[in-house]
Amino acid sequence: MTIMIKVLAINGSYRDDGITDQSIEALAKVLELNGAKVEIVLLREYPIEFCLNCRACTQQPGETLGECVIHDRMQELIEKIESADSYILAAPTNFGSVTSIFKRFMERLAVYAYWPWDMNGPQFRKARAPKKKALLVSSCAAPGALGRCFFGTSKQLKMTAKTIGAEVVGTLFTGMIAKQQHPKLPERVRTRIKAFAKRLV
Ligand SMILES: Cc1cc2nc3c(=O)[nH]c(=O)nc-3n(C[C@H](O)[C@H](O)[C@H](O)COP(=O)(O)O)c2cc1C
Repeated sequence: MTIMIKVLAINGSYRDDGITDQSIEALAKVLELNGAKVEIVLLREYPIEFCLNCRACTQQPGETLGECVIHDRMQELIEKIESADSYILAAPTNFGSVTSIFKRFMERLAVYAYWPWDMNGPQFRKARAPKKKALLVSSCAAPGALGRCFFGTSKQLKMTAKTIGAEVVGTLFTGMIAKQQHPKLPERVRTRIKAFAKRLV
């Protein structure tokens, strides 16, 4: 019996059919051809509140995730994260970082941390769990290599992967895409995506 790998793509782009949407769709196509089941979550369609910094969710020890005092669709999203085998974590680079909607999502991942009031910093509840895999996706106006090294986006996407218990198996950082109102994913990137997607399955 073959086991179908479940991939959850979390997309922090603000617009339909931008480079982030196109990258994820191209990755999903390859993954599905390789037998994976892909679910795409558009954060722009997810009404998630801001973290209150109350840390109620971080007080009890152990690997079980904390409980957030806010009841919105974040609980549903956490269930999706927990039941997925691997992830695509994606956000465009805006002002040198992930978009605000992605950052808002990241901060609500506080439930993945044990951080009582008498401790200086958090411990990640998933630190010892068997690692899942994550591909990171971003884009920017600057050349991709520069964006990847000098903007905060890669670091933030990596931190998201670490928090949810995933190891990063690749980063797709597409640069020079902001000179057209409706950019098309360059052919060279589509070619890269074919090999890149297979790292998840
Ligand atoms: C408000 C805003 C801020 C941006 N900041 C940067 C930036 O700091 N560096 C950069 O290279 N590109 C920047 N860009 C370009 C975006 O990274 C680019 O348009 C985006 O990656 C496209 O993603 P999308 O097609 O999924 O919307 C910015 C764009 C906007 C609208």
